[in-house]
Amino acid sequence: MKEFEGKVALVTGGGSGIGRATALAFAREGAQVVIGNRNVERGEKTVSIIREAGGTASFQRTDVLVAAEVEALVEHAVKTCGRLDVAFNNAGIEGDVKPTLIDQTEANFDTVMNVNVKGVWLSMKYEIPQMLKTGGGAIVNCSSVAGVIGVPGIGIYSASKHAVIGLTKAAALEFSEQGIRVNAVNPAVIDTEMVDRLADGMNVKKDDLATFHPIGRLGRVEEVAEAVLWLCSDKASFVTGHSMMVDGGFTAR
Ligand SMILES: NC(=O)c1ccc[n+]([C@@H]2O[C@H](COP(=O)([O-])OP(=O)(O)OC[C@H]3O[C@@H](n4cnc5c(N)ncnc54)[C@H](O)[C@@H]3O)[C@@H](O)[C@H]2O)c1
Repeated sequence: MKEFEGKVALVTGGGSGIGRATALAFAREGAQVVIGNRNVERGEKTVSIIREAGGTASFQRTDVLVAAEVEALVEHAVKTCGRLDVAFNNAGIEGDVKPTLIDQTEANFDTVMNVNVKGVWLSMKYEIPQMLKTGGGAIVNCSSVAGVIGVPGIGIYSASKHAVIGLTKAAALEFSEQGIRVNAVNPAVIDTEMVDRLADGMNVKKDDLATFHPIGRLGRVEEVAEAVLWLCSDKASFVTGHSMMVDGGFTAR
């Protein structure tokens, strides 16, 4: 029996990077996967990869900024799969890289906070009532190492990821007695398009960012996916309100 057989897993931002790898991993472990993504082509591509591998998946275009679209995504999951058991609220953006906070714009502040913080809040707002109907569930929100330490140049992103941990802890406390566990993952530098953009913005080579990690290389999307799956699985039945570093030792220094 596969770990997520009979379960329905929702992944926001599942059209690329960490979200796609996690959607693929849920499908490999037997879940019916529902993908929400702002970009249609990419979301549909993840679905086709899963189906080609023999898994079950569907896509609904979703901008996590828009309450009605997040609500519709959860409704889509219930309509197509009958229930919602686990969710990975992963959609996020890095925003602008600037020398310091005083160089950042109000527009970038609003965009980053809205996608990364409001998007995670809206996702939980619609996922949790659905999970309550079937006796519980598990949620993982995507924070970052930048959610526990300050990162110069992306201070607004860093603040948004600290807020994701705050939302995670509050939700964990509010719903622990009702069978919903809520945790976060805190990846360090994982080899995705986001990191390509960040490296460009910081004017460094992507591989040079590996020096942040005592393990000595960039992280792989599959390594984050495995942490998310474990946190969502029954193996983590006594783990809630936690934010798990997936950082190659970055924050152990
Ligand atoms: N890559 C890293 O090093 C790293 C490190 C720590 C945390 N993270 C976090 O991991 C998550 C995934 O990042 P990634 O590296 O895979 O980046 P990515 O840019 O490859 O993927 C992000 C995905 O989210 C989608 N998305 C963006 N805004 C959206 C919105 N408003 N509504 C719906 N979908 C939206 C994008 O279309 C994209 O498919 C993000 O929350 C990011 O902050 C990444």
